[in-house]
Amino acid sequence: MGMRALVPLTLLALLAAALPVAATSQVHLGLSSSDAATQATVVWVEPEVVDRPEVRVTGPLFNRTFPAVAVPGPGPGVVYEARLTGLQPGTPYTYEVGGRFFQFTTAPRALSEEPVRIAAIADVGIKPTSRAAVNALLEADPDLVIVPGDLAYAYGSADVWRQWFEMIEPAAATRPWMIALGNHEMDTEYDRNLYYQRHAFPGNERWYSFDWAGIHFVALDTWGGDFSKFRHEEAEWLRQDLAANKDAAWTVVYLHAPFYSSFRHGGQAHVVEAFRDILEAGGVDLVVTAHDHAYERTHPLRNDTVVTRNSTVREGLGTVYLVTGGGGQSLYDPKLHPAPNWSAARGKHYHFVELLVNETMIEGRVVATDGSGFTDSFRIEKPPKPKPVDPGPTTTTTTTTTTTRQQTPTGGSPVTETVESPAVGAVLLVLVGAASARLLRRR
Ligand SMILES: [Fe+2]
Repeated sequence: MGMRALVPLTLLALLAAALPVAATSQVHLGLSSSDAATQATVVWVEPEVVDRPEVRVTGPLFNRTFPAVAVPGPGPGVVYEARLTGLQPGTPYTYEVGGRFFQFTTAPRALSEEPVRIAAIADVGIKPTSRAAVNALLEADPDLVIVPGDLAYAYGSADVWRQWFEMIEPAAATRPWMIALGNHEMDTEYDRNLYYQRHAFPGNERWYSFDWAGIHFVALDTWGGDFSKFRHEEAEWLRQDLAANKDAAWTVVYLHAPFYSSFRHGGQAHVVEAFRDILEAGGVDLVVTAHDHAYERTHPLRNDTVVTRNSTVREGLGTVYLVTGGGGQSLYDPKLHPAPNWSAARGKHYHFVELLVNETMIEGRVVATDGSGFTDSFRIEKPPKPKPVDPGPTTTTTTTTTTTRQQTPTGGSPVTETVESPAVGAVLLVLVGAASARLLRRR
């Protein structure tokens, strides 16, 4: 190579070394303790060790810099984690990391009339359909995202993981993404180690709980190694956690393996046996699962039986189970025809689920992200908690329970069935169809 070629190459190399590298990447938020009202954890990647890794946070009467630590793990790059503490509930903050700025809002301390907005997405991948689902979720602007497993489908590829974290960054650097481990996070030792390196969750990070505005969220591990070896410890933790939080406004549990599904994999016997009775006895309102790449919702169930609509006590209402596995990776066909009697709605569509939650209701809605227009809505209601002292005479309230069932099994015309029956009691559970879903104004 002659001198004429060498000079420009040398100059280029010098210039490249002098240029600032847009290094800080794959930024996302988690929670390192169960209190989402006063803390958040930022995780990100740098190509190499940084001198003083830190996150600067500003908000109302708040301006603090939090140091970060490097988290050991497989790489590539250096993973940093900074725990932001001492924040105020329900407050917007801006943070700066590596010259990049993001905004997020802490959880309010309790629910109010104005609902909080939770999104659930799972079985995502890095395909165009995955990007469409994540972009639609970002557009919905949820306060919090729960992910019942199967994230990138990396099969040991560092590059796929990088693409996954870059894909979710706009949605995940701006509110916590709280994940329950899926089987594809365990495909290789590399995937498993990277999963734990790159996430910040409370407790042992495998099963954990946290409170968001008075909603008690519980994440379960149904795939982290030999389930038969840890299931008893996890089940005992779950029993105690639910008992300790029985006064929560709502309890929502999420995990990868479905209890009820009429699609390819079907209900997973190992989780049914390990957890179902504990969840139902513990008064869990909603269980969000995935693994089957489709959407399905059950009627409120107790011990495999559809609960009658004239239930009069909360303990008699049963639990609603969801499968939300349409995050983008692929779709499965229904396996059982016709749909089982516990199935209230199902659809083979890419989607995420949005939950609007206030003191008296969880309103769920499926947002199709494949242009199909598929939807399903449900509503679980309970009255506001009674005032502490009210010595007046006892009264009985008569209400009506309405169930509207909408089904689009394989993309065909929806089948809608409406049943009305009188129900007596203090607690009302209403499952409403898509047409009546927009009762609450969006923010
Ligand atoms: Fe899965």
